[in-house]
Amino acid sequence: MKPDEHRIYGKNVAIRGEAVKRFWARQAATAVGTAGTLLGNHGGEDLTAMKNALDRKLFRECTEGKKQRILEFGCGNGRWAELLADVVESYAGIDFAEEFIAKARAVFQGDGRFRFAVGTLTDLPMEFIRVGGRYTMGICSGCVMYLNDGEARKFYESVEALPVEALFFKEKVSTMEQRLTLVDFPSKELQTDYNVVYRMPSEYEEFYRSALPGFRIARKGWEYPEEKGIWAETNTYYWHLVRA
Ligand SMILES: C[S@@+](CC[C@H](N)C(=O)[O-])C[C@H]1O[C@@H](n2cnc3c(N)ncnc32)[C@H](O)[C@@H]1O
Repeated sequence: MKPDEHRIYGKNVAIRGEAVKRFWARQAATAVGTAGTLLGNHGGEDLTAMKNALDRKLFRECTEGKKQRILEFGCGNGRWAELLADVVESYAGIDFAEEFIAKARAVFQGDGRFRFAVGTLTDLPMEFIRVGGRYTMGICSGCVMYLNDGEARKFYESVEALPVEALFFKEKVSTMEQRLTLVDFPSKELQTDYNVVYRMPSEYEEFYRSALPGFRIARKGWEYPEEKGIWAETNTYYWHLVRA
């Protein structure tokens, strides 16, 4: 493949799920601290503190600081659990990377509010989810970008059927008028062949309209400041959805 064939604009092409899984297993094995799920330091500047602060603030604004019963899809080793610990009544986190789940369990050991399970977004561990009863919030942050369109739709359809009152979604998206897909992209920064789909926000909203008809968008927008100038083609977008 020529370099341009790994970086595909506009066209709807499939990423390689096996490579995604291997990538996250490796990240999980080397992650230190709960922020180890965040990628991208863009030339050495450590943006983790800024991302954590904005995530914490935005979530509290959307939920007016109320106590939450949280179900998180793709939780890594518990970055959101840690950021929201003071508003957590109960928290259940799911991730397909076993080492992330083992690390999350170690971090929250002894605090009975927090539970974690190995599971995938496309085949959710229903028994684990059922134990939590009703949830006030489902969080999915930076995970659907690693799913192909058919899998993404399937995930959203299964979320629609869950006992969840509201949703907080966040994805890295394309800032352009077209999607950008990286297929086995030789990333120097991540030292791997990277697979990801940067969809347009409108493409996510089309999923929500068709696969999550029981929800409406209460609030949405770009999360990180554009003036930082480091996100030329992609940036982070969020949606707060509530039961219609
Ligand atoms: C960018 S990290 C974000 C982690 C966390 N949501 C956060 O915001 O800190 C993406 C996470 O999604 C998980 N993931 C990706 N695809 C998944 C899938 N199909 N099923 C379950 N977890 C998945 C990865 O293991 C990783 O923990």
